[in-house]
Amino acid sequence: KAEDGHQLWLRHTAAKQVKVVSPRKSPVLTIAVQEIKNGWLGKDGAELKFDFVKDGSVTDDGFRLEGNKIAAKTDLGILYGSYELLRRQYLGKSDQNYASNPSYSRRILNHWDNLDGSVERGYAGASIFWRQGDSSLQLSEADIALYKEYARANASIGINGTVLNNVNASAKILTIAYLQKVQAIATVLRPYGLKVYLSVNFSSPVTVGKLKTADPLVPAVRHWWAAKAKEIYSLIPDFGGFLVKANSEGQPGPQNFGRTHVDGANMMADALSPFGGIVMWRAFVYQPSNEDRTKQAYNEFLKFDGKFKKNVIIQIKNGPLDFQPREPFSPLFGAMIKTPVMPEFQITQEYLGWSNHLVFLSTLWEECLQSDTYRNGKGSTVAACTDGTMDKRTFSAIAGVSNIGLERNWTGHIFAQANWYAFGRLAWDNKLKSEDIADEWIRQTFLSPTEKKMERTFVKPIKEMMMQSREVAVDYMMPLGLHHIFAEGHHYGPAPWFSNKAIRADWTSVYYHNADLLGVGFNRSSTGSNAVEQYHEPLRSTFNSLESCPEEYLLWFHHVPWTYKLKNGNDLWTALCYRYDSGLQRVRAFQRIWDSTKGLIDDERFRSVQSKLKIQSRDAQVWKDACLLYFQQFSKREIPYDLERPIYE
Ligand code: GCU
Repeated sequence: KAEDGHQLWLRHTAAKQVKVVSPRKSPVLTIAVQEIKNGWLGKDGAELKFDFVKDGSVTDDGFRLEGNKIAAKTDLGILYGSYELLRRQYLGKSDQNYASNPSYSRRILNHWDNLDGSVERGYAGASIFWRQGDSSLQLSEADIALYKEYARANASIGINGTVLNNVNASAKILTIAYLQKVQAIATVLRPYGLKVYLSVNFSSPVTVGKLKTADPLVPAVRHWWAAKAKEIYSLIPDFGGFLVKANSEGQPGPQNFGRTHVDGANMMADALSPFGGIVMWRAFVYQPSNEDRTKQAYNEFLKFDGKFKKNVIIQIKNGPLDFQPREPFSPLFGAMIKTPVMPEFQITQEYLGWSNHLVFLSTLWEECLQSDTYRNGKGSTVAACTDGTMDKRTFSAIAGVSNIGLERNWTGHIFAQANWYAFGRLAWDNKLKSEDIADEWIRQTFLSPTEKKMERTFVKPIKEMMMQSREVAVDYMMPLGLHHIFAEGHHYGPAPWFSNKAIRADWTSVYYHNADLLGVGFNRSSTGSNAVEQYHEPLRSTFNSLESCPEEYLLWFHHVPWTYKLKNGNDLWTALCYRYDSGLQRVRAFQRIWDSTKGLIDDERFRSVQSKLKIQSRDAQVWKDACLLYFQQFSKREIPYDLERPIYE
């Protein structure tokens, strides 16, 4: 039944009777009441009260569960409390008291959806929001039904914002026909607490406004944006704001006019601020130049710290390169002090096997959030630098690039649903442990309420598989700090070799791995590009020295001799061989684990995951063989005989 895949983690059925008492009415509360009635698993015939409180233990849209009461400050707090209560009942958690406040005030999905219905880096079918054709700007009944389900799924995990179009933005989004569609979508999403935001193209005043320039310091341009903001807010009074990719990968920006990121961002901030809107200005900028690509965003933005308007936030990818299977955290998180910064995670698996590979990304995000920047000494984690813990902020935010499309199961791979789920849960509470998130997700997605029988046969092995999956992907793709040796353009399989199609050095793999007869890796130490200088001590020294650099970042920071001895005594070449092989063997182990669950869950989902794992294991073999055979030309060494040999075809 395709329905099993479609229901995500929301599978409440056969609820018991409950009476819900609410001191007031609103569209949000109506949904909360409905959800409680549909999913109540507590005492039959119980009475549940919604209670509006003023005390300081509840902040923002947080809530407190106390016996048969949900206490919150806002209607949305009640809704989030309702979902939490139902989740706890489903999971069989019987605690009487539980309170929770969101880590970030804005928890936002970024859809890279184009207005023609395609999705950049989307692997789950076409866009749910946009399509080609005459009817494309009208919402059908089916659209409305789908958007409600989408909104509900997001609300259930605390996501409260969504950017409806690609960061590589078409200016057309700001024309009235499109804005009216955005308004119609916003109307469906609103009762679930989901605000809409838009990606905007910096050239819009020229492209759709017929002005001669988009120079942010020209008054006519500023007026154009101010008038556009006013128009948007007249249609959508709670519009969230703009997301901007400027002067990056060919997108226009203020630098086209000799202006800076500050000039551009502040102009938009001025346009939005009368209405309470924000600007999420992306730090993902780099140019073809002699400067190490991973250093560029930091160098471009740090000098502007403190110069942005209050409603601007800088949106930073988790790592300094580009959503690789593993990167150290972006040093900008620990560097911008006077400007709010927000993490951008990629839920869609651009560099992690698309929707074919089972990779639970929660552990990757947890690793980033818990990384210590040492900004104010020990304990200055990326989480603390971004969620307002370290600096009083009027708002804080986090973004995840969505993996949602029109496929019936939403995300292409059943286990990719777990990444959507995990992003929402971490955005709500950035201290959650991935293991707990995996546990919750498995139970809600595959088990009936409070099910205990499948503990040993299903929950435990599947959780272990999910918890290992990211590290396994790192091993079969890019172990020991290797990065960006993907095939150009589609970024699916390996291509560590030189590509003469590449138009820029920083778009080739050899730029990143630098393999030669001596060794492999990018020297970012003080004898190389010195990217280590962007980190605070003691990290700078730790990364800078080959001896103290954590092995998972070894080839990220160092050009390492093939003969260099790692901690376990193996030399680098041998270690690389073992890592690639272990990645492959563990995917095969995943296949066996999954096969052992046959009959425990519905056949449709069982078979869908089973066939995806076949693809993943074949791909892992290709990764291993391609990379080892390629690097072997430089290492000039044998692949250890106890390992499976590549197929020389
Ligand atoms: C990556 C990705 C692009 C995307 C870009 C971005 O480079 O491959 O498709 O546009 O990131 O985040 O802006």
